[in-house]
Amino acid sequence: MADERGALTPDKVEDDRGFDLTLRPARFADYVGQAKLKENLRIFVDAANRRDGALDHVLFCGPPGLGKTTMACILATELGSNLVMASGPAIEHKGQLAALLTKLSRRDVLFIDEIHRLTPVVEENLYTAIEDFRIDIVQGEGPYATTLQLPLQPFTLVGATTRTGLLTSPLLSRFGYVARIDYYPTEELTAIVERSAGLLKLQTSHDAATEIAKRSRGTPRIANRLLRRTRDFAEVLSDGRIDLKAAHDALDRLDVDSAGLDEMDRRFLRIVIDHYKGGPVGIETLAAALSEPRDTLEDVYEPFLLQQGFLARTARGRMATDKAYEHLGIKQHQARLL
Ligand SMILES: Nc1ncnc2c1ncn2[C@@H]1O[C@H](COP(=O)(O)OP(=O)(O)O)[C@@H](O)[C@H]1O
Ligand SMILES: [Mg+2]
Repeated sequence: MADERGALTPDKVEDDRGFDLTLRPARFADYVGQAKLKENLRIFVDAANRRDGALDHVLFCGPPGLGKTTMACILATELGSNLVMASGPAIEHKGQLAALLTKLSRRDVLFIDEIHRLTPVVEENLYTAIEDFRIDIVQGEGPYATTLQLPLQPFTLVGATTRTGLLTSPLLSRFGYVARIDYYPTEELTAIVERSAGLLKLQTSHDAATEIAKRSRGTPRIANRLLRRTRDFAEVLSDGRIDLKAAHDALDRLDVDSAGLDEMDRRFLRIVIDHYKGGPVGIETLAAALSEPRDTLEDVYEPFLLQQGFLARTARGRMATDKAYEHLGIKQHQARLL
């Protein structure tokens, strides 16, 4: 998977999923950071609960691992409702969509992950469902076709997408609240690492937690994963306690550098610098050179490199910044300096 990091074997990945679930916050109060988003949602949920009505449809956008699915689960819990999970590419035809929708009770939450990957037909059928709480079923063909209108219970659609840019505007405009989830600052990630360490009953010093947080690409899922790997190393190589030295050793072994960049991030920058003189280079060219799908580069790697100022996006393509050269210890190309 695109967002699995740190050289994982398949069984480790499975293991990590269970681990993600154990550490997943269940209520607003446990969800660290994203203060404004949390505050707004708390108010909307409170209002819906007072009215005993359905919460308006919500869309979460942001890179993988930042807490979109987690927040969808929290919304259902705080509403006291059931959560039905689905994902865009898995809803192949409108019959499957109808089956999901007709099962929903009043105020239930339907979570559709990767909502930008719905097929156009399914998406169109979703419009009347979320706008008027009904689905139209066409029976028969040609001039004898009749439309059956099936009423639905008022429900809440929660969508998640890694990129808003890929959503059609009719779909986007039907969400009452569109929330962008951003990378977390180090202090918030430190709090997440310390919370997870507490749940796992690990002895972790504050500076070790900060070190893990700093190297987690602003992403809670990666912070939790690095904590787990660090624990593995600490248990096998020393007494299991995670102090600053243990954290440093583990992170170095995992090839996560001081800026939190991993092997793939560095490969990305190196290709731009070594093969294309620092850019500009088009994303398709980079995807071919790195043997990674373009989507993965745009969803997972680029956003962080851009946000941290290692990469710049220009009309003619991607360029490595001075910060990237400096970080990788590479002298700037003559051509760039002239
Ligand atoms: N705000 C947060 N506070 C604490 N832990 C979080 C937070 N956001 C995410 N996590 C942790 O990171 C993991 C990945 O989050 P998830 O919601 O699956 O991300 P996404 O759906 O955006 O890819 C969760 O299992 C949870 O343990
Ligand atoms: Mg998710």
